[in-house]
Amino acid sequence: MSDPLRPRASLRTAVVWEVLKDALDRRVKAVGQAPAQGAGEGAPGVLDVLDTGGGSGNFAVPVARLGHRVTVVDPSPNALFALERRAAEAGVADRVRGIQGDAHGLFDVAERGGYDVVLCHGVLEYVDDPAEGLRNAVAALRPAGTLSVLAAGLGGAVLARALAGHFTEARQALADPAGRWGAGDPVPRRFTSEQLTALVEAAGLEVGAVHGVRVFADLVPGVLVDTEPDALEALLQLEAAAAELPAFHAVATQLHVLAERD
Ligand SMILES: C[S@@+](CC[C@H](N)C(=O)[O-])C[C@H]1O[C@@H](n2cnc3c(N)ncnc32)[C@H](O)[C@@H]1O
Repeated sequence: MSDPLRPRASLRTAVVWEVLKDALDRRVKAVGQAPAQGAGEGAPGVLDVLDTGGGSGNFAVPVARLGHRVTVVDPSPNALFALERRAAEAGVADRVRGIQGDAHGLFDVAERGGYDVVLCHGVLEYVDDPAEGLRNAVAALRPAGTLSVLAAGLGGAVLARALAGHFTEARQALADPAGRWGAGDPVPRRFTSEQLTALVEAAGLEVGAVHGVRVFADLVPGVLVDTEPDALEALLQLEAAAAELPAFHAVATQLHVLAERD
């Protein structure tokens, strides 16, 4: 998986990373202004972040590089092994803890109400029950904590199948309740913006912002980005501008929702 700090890979992660960095900054300020909240809370400016289904640390490692303490819960031993190696290479092994566990049994391994920020990126597609997975993510938040959810968008998949000439699969994804284009589809479930925000609200949070992620990046031939010197930067800026516009959420490859606990 990609590293948000590498240029070409940044096409996949830049929008989420910028939104997340701002949210972490706001949380640092809010925690700094709040009265002392008792045991378990750490040094000023350092947040406790839980990355549920955090995998090999695409987001966990960059978040730790900002100085925060990150707990990654993931069922995959291979991903956790890669996480450990990546955190060591980035010099943040002391701030990243990988634990084998599952979004459904989250509190077997993570602390309920123990985190300033919870990430749930690329996981709701795979869990048995997305509503329960999200409720657990919310229950892991401290009061006024921030939730960051990233999940596969239905419209982006339909568009990608259609532009690749797979028209029947594109129509199948539109008709399928889980948004899958066929038996060979590696993604078990996709969401519309309305479905994802409804899930977040049903888990008891107020949605702060929705962004469309990878509106164009997966559709543009690589050669157009790699051969023109300024094309990557221009495409990144286009993605950032489109991400905020609701009209483009309908065709984004992924949807990002930022939400806060009261
Ligand atoms: C697409 S990867 C996303 C990894 C990372 N969050 C990121 O954004 O790069 C999906 C991750 O979800 C994990 N996963 C699958 N089922 C899960 C479950 N029931 N609970 C928690 N994580 C799960 C996988 O092991 C994998 O690391």
